[in-house]
Amino acid sequence: MRRGTAPRIAGLAALLVVPFVPVAAQHSTDAIRVVPYPEHVEARRGAFTLRDPVRIVADTANVRLGEIAEFLARVIGEQTGFAVTVEALRGTDPAIVLTARGAAHEAEDYELTVSPAEIRIDGTSPRGVLWGVQTLRQLLPPAFEDPTVRQAAWIIPAVSIRDRPKFRWRGSLFDVSRHFFPVEFVERYIDLLSRYKMNVLHWHLTDDQGWRIEIAKYPRLTEVGAWRLEPDGSRYGGFYTRDEIRRVVEYARLRNVTVVPEIEMPGHAQAAIAAYPELGCTGDSVPVATSWGVMREIYCAGNERTFEFLEGVLDEVLALFPSEYIHIGGDEVPKDRWRACDSCQALMRREGLADEAALQSWFVRRIERYLSARGRRLIGWDEILEGGIDTTATVQVWRNMAHAASAVRLGNDVIASPTSHAYFDGSPRSLPLGRVYEFDPVPPGVDDAEASRILGGEANIWTEYITTANFDPMVFPRLLAMAEALWTRGAHDSTAFLRRVRDDQVPRLRAMDVTVGPEDRDVVRLTTHVDSVSLAAYVRVERGVEGLVVRFTEDGTVPTQDSEVYDPSIRFERPGMYTVRPFLNGEGLPVSRTVEVDHHAARGKPVRLTNEPSRQYPGTGAFTLTDGLLASLDHHDGLWQGFLGRDLEATIDLGAGRPADSIRVTFLQATPSWILLPRSVAVSLSLDETEWTPAGEVSHEIPATREERLRHAFELVLPSGSRARYIKVVARNPGPLPPWHAGAGRPSWIFADEIVVR
Ligand code: ACM
Ligand code: ZN
Repeated sequence: MRRGTAPRIAGLAALLVVPFVPVAAQHSTDAIRVVPYPEHVEARRGAFTLRDPVRIVADTANVRLGEIAEFLARVIGEQTGFAVTVEALRGTDPAIVLTARGAAHEAEDYELTVSPAEIRIDGTSPRGVLWGVQTLRQLLPPAFEDPTVRQAAWIIPAVSIRDRPKFRWRGSLFDVSRHFFPVEFVERYIDLLSRYKMNVLHWHLTDDQGWRIEIAKYPRLTEVGAWRLEPDGSRYGGFYTRDEIRRVVEYARLRNVTVVPEIEMPGHAQAAIAAYPELGCTGDSVPVATSWGVMREIYCAGNERTFEFLEGVLDEVLALFPSEYIHIGGDEVPKDRWRACDSCQALMRREGLADEAALQSWFVRRIERYLSARGRRLIGWDEILEGGIDTTATVQVWRNMAHAASAVRLGNDVIASPTSHAYFDGSPRSLPLGRVYEFDPVPPGVDDAEASRILGGEANIWTEYITTANFDPMVFPRLLAMAEALWTRGAHDSTAFLRRVRDDQVPRLRAMDVTVGPEDRDVVRLTTHVDSVSLAAYVRVERGVEGLVVRFTEDGTVPTQDSEVYDPSIRFERPGMYTVRPFLNGEGLPVSRTVEVDHHAARGKPVRLTNEPSRQYPGTGAFTLTDGLLASLDHHDGLWQGFLGRDLEATIDLGAGRPADSIRVTFLQATPSWILLPRSVAVSLSLDETEWTPAGEVSHEIPATREERLRHAFELVLPSGSRARYIKVVARNPGPLPPWHAGAGRPSWIFADEIVVR
């Protein structure tokens, strides 16, 4: 049991008073399948019949209330085809009546009463009235959301609802840097957030892989920083113009959603530095990042021009976003550039800063002063606690909830979005619906005053592996669990929640054209396998969502919508380069499996390893280094064999002495994933496994600092006339990760693929 907090005790009290349903009710509260579930629900006798024409009555002198009335009128008009009017005065006909007791209030509570004669939504403020409207939509059957369904009348069960949120910050981070999403797609997500009473879109607009917000003063941010070169040579990117941003902010405001922009600093800044190299410590030009991970390029803290730039950017951001809160990132800042920079070191001496963590803290405080002088409040990721931070900063927790407890004890407000419950970029297999539902933004062991500093939480949609093709099934239905975790007071009954989701919300979302994903499986799982007898390769496809079509090519190109359909009986036998890729709603997913088949002389021959590979990365099994399959750049593709902190030492038995011309072994470098190339690869040959002849040793000159993933073939051409039955390959692990690496001093991985003998 976790410690109770003030709001939860209040919720519990409400629960003790309410749990009986009037005997005269014609339907039970089981028919109310609203998510997030309201605080107080009482079923009543009868129903309201929505039929043509519909009257909405609202005090339109209250501008916001008038907007909400128009919003509801539009919703009903579009979904039913009925004529809908908004009037200021209540007549005698059945009507939907909206009232708000105060205008400018931030209160979110509302009461919704449905009776045969009328529907009333009453809020302390218009904010609450809009939430009442969103609840009302969910009292209609799922078919109401399907624009192709037309009925003469729609039945809404009579009910009395009183409702208010548990937490005031109910958000979702949307990363549009790693992948870009069109403005209409962002609006669609905002609309969905609002339906579930989520009130913050945390818009992650800048990162290493793309700068997505137009800044008039610094045009190169979007001319250069918004575009990256993909491995296939194509240009990828996009950005939002200032007009588009204003449009999104307004669209969100209408739906009670505040758009909180995130401008990352001092790290995750490579796209900006690509546009303006003078912002980095070295001044060297760098590309917009093309791989995922934590990059070394960060803003130079010792250069006054960095702050002139950031303040210029923030001036325009503040003009576009009315949000009181502005997110400045602050996560994952490797400090080696600052350590090696004369200007940064000089600044640290001038300011008496003991180390680079103190320099980061100085940086963040300086930006916070800039924001607070303009009436705004700073949010940063939990790393901003590290060198010290003022209590006026709000901390967004991501690594684990211990940081939430530390922050509230220091007196900081907290938004909780820990990887354990809130990272929706993780597959539902590792973060299932049920676990999201258990999320409690209040960490254990804090007192009531500390708990009151927990503003709420967010569902984080990082998009390294999410595009418009798989966004829906990664986000839904898990978002509903987050919405209820953050809104609903009192006890949370996961069985009842799952019933509401499965019986009502999933069909409702489908009617809205949302592709609903699995509760606890991968959206799609592709695994490469080898038939140990024939050595033919095949890809197993496990589907977590309906409507998935898998296609493949055998010419080295990426499958398109026109490529051939892959079925489970297809085997890759002939030499070639095969790629398998799933499609959803006609769009290719950002996952694929590439398998290269090579019929070389060691294919299928037994291999003996001196050091066992890691259990996480065993490859395809005993034959993995001679299975005739070459791995892709994806270290999870099942074909790589990984060794942590160890050498690879493999002996192949070709079965009989035979001529050999060359030996080639391919390794992976993926520095941000702690995978480096071996220092060298040595080969020796033997005819009898007793007498060994060294055939040579190959090293390489590829710097570990290269951020993009690469495969490197260590190739040794043997002296002419060489013969061997046994071939021994020793690949030397490069030792601990270098000092500038995020994992400095920890063991390196080496990843081996095939030992190709010709
Ligand atoms: C984060 O996931 N680096 C905030
Ligand atoms: Zn510097």
